[in-house]
This record gives sequence, structure tokens and C-alpha cells, in this order.
Amino acid sequence: MVVGSVLVTGGTGYIGSFTALALLEADYKVVIVDNLYNSSKEVLNRIELICGKKPAFYEADMTDEAALDKVFAEHPDIDSVIHFGALKAVGESGEIPLEYYRVNVGGSIALLRSMTKHNVTNIVFSSSATVYGDATRFPNMIPIPEHCPIGPTNPYGRTKSTVEAIITDHINAQRNNLTKKGEPGAEKWNAALLRYFNPSGAHPSGVIGENPLGVPYNLLPLLAQVAIGKREKLLVFGDDYASKDGTAIRDYIHVLDLSRGHLVALNYLREKSPGVKAWNLGSGRGSTVFEMIKAFSDVVGRPLAYEVAPRRAGDVLDLTANPTLANQELNWKTELTLEDACADLWKWTENNPEGYNQQPPKEFVDALKK
Ligand SMILES: NC(=O)c1ccc[n+]([C@@H]2O[C@H](COP(=O)([O-])OP(=O)(O)OC[C@H]3O[C@@H](n4cnc5c(N)ncnc54)[C@H](O)[C@@H]3O)[C@@H](O)[C@H]2O)c1
Repeated sequence: MVVGSVLVTGGTGYIGSFTALALLEADYKVVIVDNLYNSSKEVLNRIELICGKKPAFYEADMTDEAALDKVFAEHPDIDSVIHFGALKAVGESGEIPLEYYRVNVGGSIALLRSMTKHNVTNIVFSSSATVYGDATRFPNMIPIPEHCPIGPTNPYGRTKSTVEAIITDHINAQRNNLTKKGEPGAEKWNAALLRYFNPSGAHPSGVIGENPLGVPYNLLPLLAQVAIGKREKLLVFGDDYASKDGTAIRDYIHVLDLSRGHLVALNYLREKSPGVKAWNLGSGRGSTVFEMIKAFSDVVGRPLAYEVAPRRAGDVLDLTANPTLANQELNWKTELTLEDACADLWKWTENNPEGYNQQPPKEFVDALKK
């Protein structure tokens, strides 16, 4: 039995593919839109390997409103969207900000317009802890609660806070307009702004993981490339922060916990009609870069080369979540640790050094068939 139908933008990407899997496992029908800018269609086969179901797929650009219209027209059963499709490299966003605004903000406006035409009323948005910026500028805001004032320090973060504002204004306007006209259905318009901390890890089966097409931007995938010899060393940006070892503090959340967070947020919107809600999805545990290098080296079983470089513009000292609101309202909390994430990432990388450009080891596939 299908419990509902969801459009997943950016659904062949890292977090999108895990969320598509979680939705299928929970008996949602899944339709993916992605332009494959940073992902591979092969992940659709891997999803099917794990759960026996394959999402529908459209190769289309987020900014192409007519293409989105066509997808909704062909799937009138869709009532919700989980919106991942975006550019996501903080450093690059400082070099080509217009492109970031065009895709992230422009793509979201095209999506909301198309959703509205087709009466698709729930949206779960991939926001980021980056929207908070430097939370140490206020007293008592580490770990960061949702009421911490927004103040991104780079263009990427500003695209995310801008889209949060656009979604909030639109959902509230839809509710108000319907109420004013005395028409039914105002409560159907809902949004979840999910502020992720640092997603990491891979599927424990070893057949799905992060597969960036260019240079990865996150610490753990870079470290994994060092471990398989694809990269000589890791650059550690700044060892003069006010942390215990001088490196920046982040909250690493296993991608399986994160994808489950999307499922429970979507269910909450569809069942409770709360209007617009923001939730932090993090573990509440902060780790420094040096601690992460140690944790991943322990899993690999040997030291990994790194070099300290100057701080990067737009980076902040500490992004650790206070996940209490999601714990209480969504009844969601992380169940896996960063050690689990390191172990699963290593299993994925060591056995699939070419990512989706190679077939996974036969014994992994056989294990899934049992
Ligand atoms: N990974 C992180 O550390 C992190 C942290 C916080 C928030 N996020 C957000 O989560 C979302 C997913 O991130 P991810 O890590 O899975 O990245 P990803 O690059 O793996 O996934 C993004 C997907 O969007 C697609 N895409 C990009 N531009 C598009 C366009 N114009 N039209 C259609 N599809 C397009 C890409 O091909 C890719 O499949 C993004 O919105 C990102 O900003 C990621």
C-alpha cells in the first residue's frame, strides 16, 4: 500500500538518495528530479538493490519551471516535495555567487510556483546549520537552538536563509489568502526547514555512499580519498580557533539518521499541519577536525596525512546542534555515532574506489539478496 507520493528534487545526490530509499522503505511513492550535475543515475539501481523498489526519475533542471510542471502533471498524486536540488560548496559560492543564487534561490522559486499551480502543498527543505553563521557571537547559543538568530557568513548560507524566508512567506501567504477568502484547505500548506549539521557516512551494505563528481568539499570524503591514495593529504583550514586543539568544531550526523529525519518531518507535516517549522537535525555532539582525523584513521588502521593551512573565509568556530526540538516534536534523535559513520564510509570507499562508476563487490550484492 502506498502511503503518499513525494517529489524529491536532487534525489540522485548524496542525502537525496538516502532519503529516497527511506521513503520507499516506508511505502511512499518517490519521483526524483535531478539534472545530474553532481550525481549519477546508477544510484537508482542501488536503491532498488536494497529495497526492491526503484524511484521514477526525470532528468531536469530545478530552474526549468515548465519541466517541473510536466512532472507534477504526470503525477497528480504527489502532495509533497522534499527539496535537495542545489549547489552546495561554501568556497565556490564566494567565487560564483550569482550561479548559487540562480540555482538555489531561482530553482526554489520555480519549484514553489510549480507546486502552487498543481496544488502540491507540503515542502521539506534542505537547509543548513550554515544559516546560523557564527553562533558564538551571542552568549549561550552553543549548542545552537533553532531560535539562534540567523546570520550566514557566506553566499551559500545566504541562499539557504533566503530560501527559508521565501518558503515561509509563501506558505503563510497561501494560508492567509485561503482563510481570507473563506475557502477550505489553508491547513494543507506546510513547510519543514531542516537545518542539517554535518552529514556523513554511507549505507552499511557498502553499495550506496557519497559519490561527488568533482572534488569533495567535506572533511570525511576528503579523508577517505587520502586513505585510498587519491589525494596526498588533507588540508586542515585553521588550527588557531578557540577550541581545545585549535581546529573547528562540527556536529557529524550519520546520513541514515538524517534521511530518517526527513521521513519523520514529512509525516509530521502531513499529519499535524503545523504551518512552517524549523528543526535542527544534528547529534548534539561537537568534534574537532583533529578528533575526526583520529576517528577515521582508527577505522582505517593507519595514520592519514594532513597539513594545516590558513583559515577559510566564511568558516566559523563551532556548529554544534541543540537537537532538543526535533527530539521532542518529531520524536527523532540520532541513533548512530560518528564512529559508525566513519566505519560505513570506509567500507563504501575502500570497496568502491570509483564510486558508481564501478559495480559493487559481488558479496555485498549477494548479502542484500538474502
Ligand atoms: N552535504 C552537506 O554537508 C550538507 C549540509 C547541509 C545542507 N546540505 C544541503 O542538502 C542538499 C543535498 O546535499 P548533498 O550533500 O546531497 O549534495 P549533492 O550535490 O550530492 O546533491 C544535490 C543534488 O542536486 C542536484 N542539482 C544541482 N543543481 C541542480 C539543478 N539546477 N537542477 C536539478 N538538480 C540539481 C545535483 O545533481 C545533486 O544530485 C543540498 O541542498 C545541500 O545544500 C548539504
